[in-house]
Amino acid sequence: MQVLATIRLPGQAWQKLPDVELGPLDHRDYVDVLSVAGDVVDDAVLDRLPSLRLVASYGVGYDNIDVKACRARGVEVTNTPGVLDAATADLAFALLLATRRRLVEGDRHVRGGDWGTGWSQTPFLGREVTGSTLGIVGLGRIGGAMGRRARGFEMRVVYHQRTPETTGLISRERLALLRDGATLVNTARGGLVDEEALVQELVSGRISAGLDVFAHEPHVPHELFDLQNVVLTPHIASDTIETRAAMSRVVVDNILAFQRGVPLPNPVT
Ligand code: 8YV
Repeated sequence: MQVLATIRLPGQAWQKLPDVELGPLDHRDYVDVLSVAGDVVDDAVLDRLPSLRLVASYGVGYDNIDVKACRARGVEVTNTPGVLDAATADLAFALLLATRRRLVEGDRHVRGGDWGTGWSQTPFLGREVTGSTLGIVGLGRIGGAMGRRARGFEMRVVYHQRTPETTGLISRERLALLRDGATLVNTARGGLVDEEALVQELVSGRISAGLDVFAHEPHVPHELFDLQNVVLTPHIASDTIETRAAMSRVVVDNILAFQRGVPLPNPVT
């Protein structure tokens, strides 16, 4: 079995894979299995790899993979659901807290040596988290984990069930429905939100946002860089040592199941 991996995944489980070659997607023509981490797998890639039978993706989202095109060629796709729910909800909550309590601004203020006045006069009035209302868009595994965290903060939780088509779900019109002073947190995919409309709302200062994902990563709209009402992170929601090792384990388990000819634990259907 020829396995091509675009990166070496972290953690112990990786060592269970025999004969993995590391390299970019165009590294070789004969490949049975691809281990990808955010790489785009589309018709062009599939054309180059006619022997491919499995794409094992390191991540739960698979918007980077043309699943339909894979299926049409008999190529199976697997992902890593479940193991990253807690880490992703933790980061979403961290962004919520950091944005509403102006954590990053405060940190810069202290490091910049600008803290000349007493605590009662520092210009960092934030917004309350405890007791506020949390709206969850998509009450799946991660949304549910977010809801459980919110209960600890005595928040009122309202939610919207996941819709099959999520691109542009948070449209300009829906953004306009957010109350003044509301905070939008996104740890899902940038494409869920009308990014141009979001930038305009943030520039106006009407709302704030904690953003881990962007429409065209790694590009981040430059208007956001100077804004104080935005906290930005580089798509790190699943990025803990423990979670990334668990994601690797899931990738390896799927590849080994494929090799043994037993049902794949995490097929994307
Ligand atoms: C990334 C994620 O995939 O799982 C997802 O859908 O967005 C992240 O966990 C991960 O950073 C590795 O590419």
